[in-house]
Amino acid sequence: MISKNAVSKFGDLKTPFYYYDLNVLKSNLDTLKKESQNSGYKVHYAVKANANPRILKIISSYGFGADCVSWNEIDSALKAGFDPSKVVFAGVGKSDYEIKNAINAGIYCFNVESIPELEVIEQFASELNKTVQIALRINPLVEAHTHKYITTGVEESKFGIHTWELENVLKALTAMKHIILIGIHFHIGSQITRMAVFQSLCTHINELQDWFANRNVDLKVVNVGGGLGIDYKNPDKAPVFAEYFNLMHEFIDLKPGQELHLEPGRSVVGQCGSLISKVLYIKKGSNTIFAIIDAGMTDLIRPALYQAHHKIENLTSKGSIYKYDVVGPICESSDTFARYIELPETHRGDIIAIRSAGAYGEAMASRYNLRDLPGTVFSDEL
Ligand code: LLP
Repeated sequence: MISKNAVSKFGDLKTPFYYYDLNVLKSNLDTLKKESQNSGYKVHYAVKANANPRILKIISSYGFGADCVSWNEIDSALKAGFDPSKVVFAGVGKSDYEIKNAINAGIYCFNVESIPELEVIEQFASELNKTVQIALRINPLVEAHTHKYITTGVEESKFGIHTWELENVLKALTAMKHIILIGIHFHIGSQITRMAVFQSLCTHINELQDWFANRNVDLKVVNVGGGLGIDYKNPDKAPVFAEYFNLMHEFIDLKPGQELHLEPGRSVVGQCGSLISKVLYIKKGSNTIFAIIDAGMTDLIRPALYQAHHKIENLTSKGSIYKYDVVGPICESSDTFARYIELPETHRGDIIAIRSAGAYGEAMASRYNLRDLPGTVFSDEL
């Protein structure tokens, strides 16, 4: 729920903007910290979900690590106070300067996705006279049952190393004197709501663990990636961290001394953010009424890109219910937040909240149509 106090202030602010409820964020982080402490599992927050400096600072203050996918994300994480010894670097296409900078920054681990990438890391580590820790990102072939654009662990995925290549990877690693293999890494997709998917991932990981053990390869870290979904229909519902951690505990067989690492992104920040916008025009269509708002797909691309559902609320009107298509001002028909949804009778100037937008909202905003980037407002500033 967006507080009445906040709503009463929104009218004076320049829209659109992301509103972050820090109480929601902190309550999530408290739960995550408790689960992490009880289980001993280590959390690396996936910075890509929301890299707002203030959000990063709050998350780093809980002592979590950071999962980054570019040098700029690593740099932002370090500036926000994350400890380099808790930073991991993932991604299928790390560029030369990103690898060199990350080696120099002394990050904890590179999650490596191919033999050619290993060769480049070995070369730069050797040139810089450093030793680098890596984990192998493996494609476990587990269907995530989520949108195909955010499914990453199936046969045709560009991500991860196929199991049939692992023998060659181990062979290549024996010649690499500046690389230490410390673990295995997985990430099969995002917005996963079927818990059975994670159970299936655990089964595959257990099999792979045996494969490595049979070859006398010691692995200190098993990293299961991110992916825990949130309830977009109920924006006030917290993510099911306890269920998720319990599932891992029940189904993953860790070897003595092994650490389990997790990389949640969306579940950490999704429910704390709403995109706040004003209604510009109400326009009659042939079969619908358009509520044209001042936020567009440049501010929140998820509905246009993944047909994602975000709950939309009219925060300032309370009349009879009508059906609306809520659309933005961008010159694309995909610039539609929702079709045929029920809202109280809506007028020019009403304030609209698009909920559950804390993850992959601000982070994916663009300047298409040369629009300004959305602003940000934090609950403690009002
Ligand atoms: N670890 C790795 C290696 C990842 O690739 C990702 C997300 C995560 C962790 C965090 O996953 P999460 O817990 O947030 O599901 N833009 C899309 C989501 C893309 C996710 C990419 N990888 C969206 O708006 O739905």
